Amino acid sequence: MRNDASRSSRRRLWIGGACFTISAMVHAGAVTPASASVTDGRRVLGPSSDSSAVTFTRDVAPIIQRNCQLCHSPGGIGPMPLLTFEHVRRNGPLIKQMVQAREMPPYQYDTHVGIQKLQHDWRLSDHDIATVVRWVDAGMPMGDPADMPPAPKLPAAGEYRLAATYGPPDLIVKAKKYTVPAMGQDRWWRPSVPSGVTSDRCIKAIETRPTVAGRSVTHHANSIFVPGNSNVQPDEAGGGGPGSVRLSEYALGKIGEVVPTDACRIAPAGSNVLFDIHYYPNGKEVVDDQVEVGIWFHPPEVTPQTHYRQTLGLYALQSGSGDFEIEPRGTLMTQGFHRFNTPVRIDSWQPHGHLHLVAKRLEVLYPDGRRETISMVSNWNPGWHHSHVYAEDAAPLLPAGTVMINTAWYDNTDKNPFNPDPDQWVGIGDRTADEMSHAWIAVTQLDEAGYQKLLAKRTKK
Ligand code: HEC
Repeated sequence: MRNDASRSSRRRLWIGGACFTISAMVHAGAVTPASASVTDGRRVLGPSSDSSAVTFTRDVAPIIQRNCQLCHSPGGIGPMPLLTFEHVRRNGPLIKQMVQAREMPPYQYDTHVGIQKLQHDWRLSDHDIATVVRWVDAGMPMGDPADMPPAPKLPAAGEYRLAATYGPPDLIVKAKKYTVPAMGQDRWWRPSVPSGVTSDRCIKAIETRPTVAGRSVTHHANSIFVPGNSNVQPDEAGGGGPGSVRLSEYALGKIGEVVPTDACRIAPAGSNVLFDIHYYPNGKEVVDDQVEVGIWFHPPEVTPQTHYRQTLGLYALQSGSGDFEIEPRGTLMTQGFHRFNTPVRIDSWQPHGHLHLVAKRLEVLYPDGRRETISMVSNWNPGWHHSHVYAEDAAPLLPAGTVMINTAWYDNTDKNPFNPDPDQWVGIGDRTADEMSHAWIAVTQLDEAGYQKLLAKRTKK
């Protein structure tokens, strides 16, 4: 549960979708690592004889370095730097509150429901959370400066984040430029550009990168491969017309997508990339913004002929009419069902919604009648979209005939801290103040032999 203090500060951060603008302003006056000092004469307590006493240099600094500094450093997207003892001490009580509520690091995924083995999981362990809480409660002692771990090397602002794992992208596809005005309503930009892919390749990872200046106004940026030179408008259900395949989805805060080593998300030769970018002006003009997508490929021996195909799909939740409304100060639950006619493996799950969504769940109903919860997010935050990638030995392997059940809960009351106006009717739509109801799910399409093989491998383990 969010408490009132965090609720009010976060509402302020979100009005007008301006949260990252505020971050940028704070950063303009931020302390640089060079000018910051680790020593604070009044607070140096020296090494403690009590080994259970938590100190900053020995216990807390490694947690902050590993989990927070990527964003909370000058040029990062966090509103303040957390590089030094003094930075962290100054924000101590708020840090305690945010890590205890699992709001920071920003990774909304329930810890006691469904599959817990995820790749690129940002969640802190219970032990790390307890360490931070104990340190704040103990008055935030600095400890022995000699215990301080060396500062990690942080990527430069605007660098591809997956580059730390995979090196620079093999291919970068740039959208055409667009100038986002300072004021006005939502904007959509759908340019088509040549992909530069000359032979069919299999994708290993994808990162959609808004510009540093444009990241607060870029709410979505989806991309699909379309054949030849066609300029097909993307349709809601599954892609951009005949012969098109989805490349990726991006929404605020998302890093990227990762494809398992035994599956092929295809990048077709001779294709164009059609972007579908949703901008939301927030007070400052962004001139010539240019979204780009970095793509890493599997080695050439992984081909569409030798490996099962992985597809990223949009699975809708709304009922048959494709429409819903939430009444002023009302709540709503929607559900969507999808039957797999062939065996599949679910590789990743990404809930999607806007400011009224509060929770989303993925379940499966097996042909034998068993029902299982795969994943749940009950503290949805519209500022952070993640593709939750299941660990390779944990990704749900489903026999033909399994039904996927997606459920979403919405809150249009004033208890929802992100709700811009509880007195409005809310309908389904593309604007930030409208709602959406779908999940992005990457599925490896198997056949019976492939399913049995993967199952045997699992049970052997
Ligand atoms: C992926 C980037 C990212 C990571 C990682 C991250 N933060 Fe943040 N943090 C942000 C952004 C952006 C905000 C402001 C918007 C928001 O609240 O979502 C923020 C807000 C905060 C705030 C609230 C500041 C305020 O004035 O309201 C605190 C405290 C905080 N982070 C602490 C942490 C700590 C501690 C960690 C690591 C355990 C961490 N963050 C990891 C990006 C990040």
